[in-house]
Amino acid sequence: MIFDIHPLSDALGAEVIGLDLSEPLDDESFARVHRAHLEHHVLVFRDQTLSPQAQIGFSKRFGPLDQHPADDATLDGFPEILMVSTKRENGKYIGLPDAGPMWHSDLAYKKKTALGTMLYAVEVPTEGGDTGFANMHAAYDTLPPALKAAVEGKRGVFLAGRNNAKRSFKRRLNQEQKSKTPPVTHPIIRTHPETGRKSVFANPQHTIAIDGMDEAASDRILSDLFAHCARPEFVYRHKWRVGDLTFWDNRSVLHIADQSRLDDPGYIRHLHRTTIEGDAPF
Ligand code: SIN
Repeated sequence: MIFDIHPLSDALGAEVIGLDLSEPLDDESFARVHRAHLEHHVLVFRDQTLSPQAQIGFSKRFGPLDQHPADDATLDGFPEILMVSTKRENGKYIGLPDAGPMWHSDLAYKKKTALGTMLYAVEVPTEGGDTGFANMHAAYDTLPPALKAAVEGKRGVFLAGRNNAKRSFKRRLNQEQKSKTPPVTHPIIRTHPETGRKSVFANPQHTIAIDGMDEAASDRILSDLFAHCARPEFVYRHKWRVGDLTFWDNRSVLHIADQSRLDDPGYIRHLHRTTIEGDAPF
């Protein structure tokens, strides 16, 4: 198949033009996409028209799919598709309107965290709702020495944001959903299982403490770390177009969604998310 790949920013990201993902990819094209994903960390496939089956089929080429704990926010008949959506029916959100209000990596609150996430834009607003992506290899490579010494070899305690009383979300998990996501620990500096590169793996949506450290010291170090990870030179901000399918590497990047128009009743942002399971970080 003939298609082009263009970098999107100095920080990370590339757009893929001319590839129709509604058809199965041949092995050579798949291998090129896989290499580009490892190199650029976020791919944006433009101008797609994807059925749920086609999105699930393409996602599964990379590994088994996760089913989100918010099992009442998935697309009818497709438990692998989480709706990231501001739409409501009978006054109730049909999906998660605020899946990513803070910088985070998907499934970081599970023992096996996510390899990657695909997010397909069905309806997007003309203003607002951008998604930011930050390069955590660059964050690791530029850690100030004192901060590096404070976190290297340490484990973070991770908890699903929607379980966490310190956070406020538009839609929370019920008790049964919460019981499926108890806290876990992961190394704060992880090694990418495919490239061997190190990255920072802690985030303000899920990482609530440094394991075994007193709360004040842990809060101070994490606050410095989160500020470092969000430095503008590490960030690419994606402005969505209908038909974009983004595919990000949760082992290399953090992401965040702009929520500034969430309380505007005319604000419609509706996307389909599939999440590919990965390994326990090491
Ligand atoms: C997410 O964090 O899964 C969703 C990101 C977004 O809404 O842009």
